[in-house]
Amino acid sequence: MIEGDGIGPEISQTVKDIFSAADVPIKWESVDVTPRLIDGKTSIPQEAIDSVTRNYVALKGPLATPIGKGHVSLNLTLRRTFNLFANVRPCKSIAGYKTPYDNVDLSLIRENTEGEYSGIEHVVVDGVVQSIKLITRAASERVLRFAFQYAQDVGRPKVRAVHKATIMKMSDGLFLSIAREVSKDFPDISFDAELRDNACLKIVSDPTPYNDVVLVMPNLYGDILSDMCAGLIGGLGLTPSGNIGDECSIFEAVHGSAPDIAGKGLANPTALLLSSIMMLQHMGLTQHADRIQGAIFKTLAEGKTITGDLGGKAKTAEYAEAVIKNL
Ligand code: IPM
Ligand code: MN
Repeated sequence: MIEGDGIGPEISQTVKDIFSAADVPIKWESVDVTPRLIDGKTSIPQEAIDSVTRNYVALKGPLATPIGKGHVSLNLTLRRTFNLFANVRPCKSIAGYKTPYDNVDLSLIRENTEGEYSGIEHVVVDGVVQSIKLITRAASERVLRFAFQYAQDVGRPKVRAVHKATIMKMSDGLFLSIAREVSKDFPDISFDAELRDNACLKIVSDPTPYNDVVLVMPNLYGDILSDMCAGLIGGLGLTPSGNIGDECSIFEAVHGSAPDIAGKGLANPTALLLSSIMMLQHMGLTQHADRIQGAIFKTLAEGKTITGDLGGKAKTAEYAEAVIKNL
């Protein structure tokens, strides 16, 4: 467990409370990832690296990222350190929570190690800077194969690559051409591609035609589309994610550390809870996953004990209590 910053400790506690009420056979090992200067570079403490390596899975709260200066985002450091190459971001309507479309069921896979997130930036001359978007065959092929395999595993018949290869002819062009290549190895899955701006327009206009599609895209597009899609189902309080690698995986909410409400007991822990459910599924603890998920969905559908972001008045702890009653 990496509790994280801001609302991280509160929502992590909720997960622990609900897991213990549901008798989930997990012993938590908590690690601190407060940035440390190691060999002149900000990095995460070795104990945290060792813990994730030893346990193969981690649940992670949000880690604050400085804007425009300061250390490299620790979120990214974790993704890169453990080579968590695919970021799986489902975005599904919550029954009983009213939004313009109540049957959204989007599935987004985000490349998680490079693109605009490669951290290669420099000043060319005063007033001119470059931030390099790095796209490699290796990372693209890895995440694209993952997306096709994922589609097959979850029973979605289509994979769609989201790109802007009309403009970024080389980087997105490479991603797209590899997608076409990889699609040949998955004859049962149909493949097509969509320009990222048009995909945004179509998804917000009516997301439901995407319900049988797995969307796969380079890193930054995945970042943007995942928040946009979260807006369709009730916001970032509700969307989970899994950062998947070959050696280990880290599950985390899509949202940030929300410093404005930290420590006040107001945070919606649902996104981290749903991430913890993805973790349980990943670990094969599906009965526990189903039971906790059922209790969460029941609590949200009842609509009496929901947090402020969803229009309710409940404190984090009251919501947790209601979920425990519904187990
Ligand atoms: C996310 C977050 C992170 C990202 C931030 C916190 C670095 O927004 O997981 O989507 O940009 O990837
Ligand atoms: Mn984001």
